[in-house]
Amino acid sequence: MKKKRQIKRRQVKISKKDEETKLKFFKTYIPGFDKLCPEGVPVGNSILVEGGPGNGKTIFCLTLLKNMCERGKKVLYMSFEEPEGRLKEHMKIFGAKPEEYEKKGVLYVKRFNALDIARSVEALLSEAKKELLIDVQPVLIPPEFQPDIVLIDSLSSIASAFSGEESRFRIYMEQLFRYLEGNRITSFLIREVASPAHIGTTFVEKGEAVSFLSDGIIVIYNVFYPSGIRKRAFEILKMRGADINRRIVECEIKRGKGIVIHDKPVKGKYVLT
Ligand SMILES: Nc1ncnc2c1ncn2[C@@H]1O[C@H](COP(=O)(O)OP(=O)(O)O)[C@@H](O)[C@H]1O
Ligand SMILES: [Mg+2]
Repeated sequence: MKKKRQIKRRQVKISKKDEETKLKFFKTYIPGFDKLCPEGVPVGNSILVEGGPGNGKTIFCLTLLKNMCERGKKVLYMSFEEPEGRLKEHMKIFGAKPEEYEKKGVLYVKRFNALDIARSVEALLSEAKKELLIDVQPVLIPPEFQPDIVLIDSLSSIASAFSGEESRFRIYMEQLFRYLEGNRITSFLIREVASPAHIGTTFVEKGEAVSFLSDGIIVIYNVFYPSGIRKRAFEILKMRGADINRRIVECEIKRGKGIVIHDKPVKGKYVLT
């Protein structure tokens, strides 16, 4: 019974993919973001959202969620950190109306246990007799919801559940990215890093497949000024398939709004972390 349903879904997906072979772009309606990426984000891209703890990665995703749901795009928020209830309360602080979006069928917030995922992947891999090909869909995307955008908070939580089994994590990530790409689902995948990979000197990436598998990298910085002030900054480091303005601009987190990205490069003597 279960198998039959999966086969049916796959057929639907193939015809959907055929329809949309050419590149399409979408705006985030976060004004500062759309200035940095004027053409828009290519549909189907997998984008890493990098930054240190408390830098605003979750709030960036919640702001995007609000803007997308309000325009009828279907968003799946996969939380490996906060429980669903707390996330929804968090969304409301930044102006989103999660219950309304759920009623309209454009939002699905789901909390996952990363250890359960790691165990399922292990079971699938042994069932597949080391073919290294698994179907991630049953262990990841709820079958009853077909999203346009997937937000994953966070890859770091998933990676730590696979700790000591990096090759399994890599296989899982490859399958996940392939699945998202094949279904033209745009994804934003949060990755918590002590220091952004491109500026860190001691940073060792957990699950190295992730950076080169991704189509885009967004970085949210903690800017430290020697005078003792901290600010936030935002950068689009990479966006496959679109022109980007290569600059690091100031941003803020505001109640009722979420992340506000300014059209103003960071200035003076500062350190990025
Ligand atoms: N209501 C608020 N108004 C302004 N800033 C807030 C508010 N709530 C949280 N913040 C800021 O947002 C930060 C957390 O952002 P978050 O997106 O959760 O970080 P992370 O990158 O760890 O996901 C907090 O450290 C705090 O500074
Ligand atoms: Mg977070």
